Amino acid sequence: METVLALQHLTVRFDTKDGSVAAVNDLSLSVGRGECIGIVGESGSGKSQTFLASMGLLAGNGKATGRALFRGHDLLKMNRDHLDKLRGNRVCMIFQDSGTSLTPHMRIGDQLMEILIAHKGHTPDVARKRVLEVMESMRIPDIEKRLTQYPHEFSGGMRQRVMIAMALLCEPDLLIADEPTTALDVTVQAQILNLFRALKAHTKSAIVLITHDLGVVAGLCDRVVVMYGGRMVEEGPVADIFATPKHPYTQGLLRCMPRLDQLLDADLDAIPGQPPNLENLPKGCAFAERCSQANERCTTERPVLRELSPTRRAACHLLEAA
Ligand SMILES: Nc1ncnc2c1ncn2[C@@H]1O[C@H](COP(=O)(O)OP(=O)(O)OP(=O)(O)O)[C@@H](O)[C@H]1O
Ligand code: SF4
Ligand SMILES: [Mg+2]
Repeated sequence: METVLALQHLTVRFDTKDGSVAAVNDLSLSVGRGECIGIVGESGSGKSQTFLASMGLLAGNGKATGRALFRGHDLLKMNRDHLDKLRGNRVCMIFQDSGTSLTPHMRIGDQLMEILIAHKGHTPDVARKRVLEVMESMRIPDIEKRLTQYPHEFSGGMRQRVMIAMALLCEPDLLIADEPTTALDVTVQAQILNLFRALKAHTKSAIVLITHDLGVVAGLCDRVVVMYGGRMVEEGPVADIFATPKHPYTQGLLRCMPRLDQLLDADLDAIPGQPPNLENLPKGCAFAERCSQANERCTTERPVLRELSPTRRAACHLLEAA
């Protein structure tokens, strides 16, 4: 499979008055064409910063090192113009609050058409026809009127659908969606997930889906990366991870999941205890304080991420002999 995005030893630090925050620590992963990878982990585990850093969107006090290769080109070394161009065209990002990603003073229809005119070289007539097609396929009612409205006239769910329409229109090589359904009600969530499925099937985009929702991962992703304390602790094909989670943290997450038919209610923050302090990560395993299987070695030596099989990796001392 052709690799679209490869993160290599990505590390993100934030300078604060209290010291350095180790938000992402030596993270390596890749996403291939047509593949959907799910990034899970509780709040503060570094999911968003990993991809914001990759796209050159870190806050001013943040610094990323390592490499973030998009089709072989290091995004961390790319100049701003080049990055901006890539972001509007071959890479598309959808955030939880799409209100901020849309231009407030421009009609929705014009924003959608602009993508096709600017990036695909379509004439306004052709662009309009294509926009209507996509909006229709998304079952947005009253389309003609909707296209003349501004972002603030849309509900959160509608704005999210517009963002996904944008992704469908520009057919990006890479789509990064950060909690795209979290704020939405369950019916709209289901519709949006169907749109992601269509995007994956029709455009062969590589999709990175950051989510708290293991149900979304089960329904859409091919592979899953579990993060804890800014590190990857486990990675593998979705079906394998759900059937036989190896890392105690992943096992805990899955135990928090009620039942398969109630996946949408899963709560990733339900493991007792607190996430590690990123300003002062422990010397050993960052999960040790909360791990029921921890032994003495866990508090003194950090487990390295090791290959358990050609498709699976995990970082836990207990898995060493596996
Ligand atoms: N500008 C900043 N300065 C200092 N620390 C920051 C800054 N931005 C983010 N962080 C810290 O980086 C860590 C990782 O944040 P990140 O947003 O990646 O978490 P997340 O896994 O996406 O969580 P959530 O699920 O809540 O979205 C957090 O502890 C956060 O407080
Ligand atoms: S290394 Fe130790 S503390 Fe960390 S997950 Fe494995 S058993 Fe638990
Ligand atoms: Mg986040």
